[in-house]
Amino acid sequence: MASNTLTIIDNRTGKKYEVPVENGAIRAMDLRQIKVGDDDFGLMTYDPAFMNTAACKSKITFIDGDKGILRYRGYPIDQLAEQSTYLETAYLILYGELPTQAQLNEWHDNVIHHTIIHENIKKLMDGFHHDAHPMGMLVSTVAALSTFYPDAKNIFDEELRRKQTWRLIGKMITLAAFAYRHSIGMPYAYPDNDLSYTGNLLNMMFKMTEVKYRPHPVLEKALDVLFILHADHEQNCSANAMRSVGSSHVDPYSAIAAAAAALYGPLHGGANEEVLHMLQQIGSIDRVPEFIKKAKAGEGRLMGFGHRVYKNYDPRAKVIKRLADQVFEVTGVNPLLKIALELERIALEDEYFVKRKLYPNVDFYSGLIYQAMGFPLDMFPVLFAIPRASGWIAQWEELILDPEQRIARPRQLFLGHAERPYVPIVKRK
Ligand code: SDX
Repeated sequence: MASNTLTIIDNRTGKKYEVPVENGAIRAMDLRQIKVGDDDFGLMTYDPAFMNTAACKSKITFIDGDKGILRYRGYPIDQLAEQSTYLETAYLILYGELPTQAQLNEWHDNVIHHTIIHENIKKLMDGFHHDAHPMGMLVSTVAALSTFYPDAKNIFDEELRRKQTWRLIGKMITLAAFAYRHSIGMPYAYPDNDLSYTGNLLNMMFKMTEVKYRPHPVLEKALDVLFILHADHEQNCSANAMRSVGSSHVDPYSAIAAAAAALYGPLHGGANEEVLHMLQQIGSIDRVPEFIKKAKAGEGRLMGFGHRVYKNYDPRAKVIKRLADQVFEVTGVNPLLKIALELERIALEDEYFVKRKLYPNVDFYSGLIYQAMGFPLDMFPVLFAIPRASGWIAQWEELILDPEQRIARPRQLFLGHAERPYVPIVKRK
């Protein structure tokens, strides 16, 4: 009768071990019993970049990389993109169920009534150089929020956690918009809580001298769909940062600053900005083959292509590609689109990319939409961080409430020097 175990024979000692298999995994700690002698620490697993290591159990987001499936709490991403809103999806990701109308109204009001930031944050913003990257400003100012809300340290107080959640989600759009307005030397535009979440962001970013800013409904809706698509993505690099830093029981503002810093990297959320730099560098369709040839030779990467989990088309990229048509009807087609389409066409036929299962990811087309909507390139990672805040908070809450979780502290395989005596400087060669 097949049993849910692994039988391991250690050929160094001939000993046999039975290790239970649970949820398709074995516990790394079950390997520590495998030793060659009494003073042996026991067997560890070695997995740089966690290519095959589950660091947690989660019920938030499910991805099937081979089938290109993405679901938040069981709901397929294309149905949420089609029928939900970002704030409703954020509620789902955070609390596990779609809200009733009453719950959604209360949630919306709680978030929208926390969009205003302490006036002292403006002094912090004003201290940045005029050309400071807005993502650097966001990372810094989110961390600074922890100094304004010391009660956030009470991470096991559910009511206080909920209040920090409203503050964080509400204030992300304000911090983002203020960073943008600082970078273009414009006065800050304050939240207008009559507007939707994304309408309010557009208002704080683009309001000029009009008494009331009115967002274009197509662009407001498109941004909301993009926020749904970016809200969570299970154990990505920044979620891992959120969980690792959060495992020290620091406040959520400080943990989110760490997650946003991870997202800033060009291999992660910074890729959407890098895609546009790449398309601008290519410059024309006829230079696409030459660029692909260089990428295949290892001279640079096809930004917006490839994914650690998706070995099929990123389902979010499919939705974004459809969304682009709606936006371009309003804004005019982004001239770089044809280069992106040619790049995709060639790459999807080329053995190098096919063999490595490199498909467009969420970042490949999103930047074309953001640019067409009038966002500058350096705001693109910020537009990724805003919606991902709900995913980061959900991952963090799941972590601190998981009885199995403790402070994250990986082991290492030490390959350095054995003990050696100190050498006085006069005797050093
Ligand atoms: C996001 O994890 C998430 O869920 C992230 C994210 C989320 O929602 O949180 O989905 C958001 O970060 C999307 C990814 C955005 N990044 C980029 O678009 C940057 C370009 N892509 C790559 O750098 C890369 O594909 C990663 C970082 C996304 C994944 O890296 P892996 O899984 O570590 O893959 P790898 O670097 O080991 O590459 C495997 C092979 C290598 O070739 P060989 O060494 O086998 O010869 O594929 C090649 C790589 O050189 N390769 C690429 C490539 N990506 C991988 N070659 C050219 N262009 C690329 N984009």
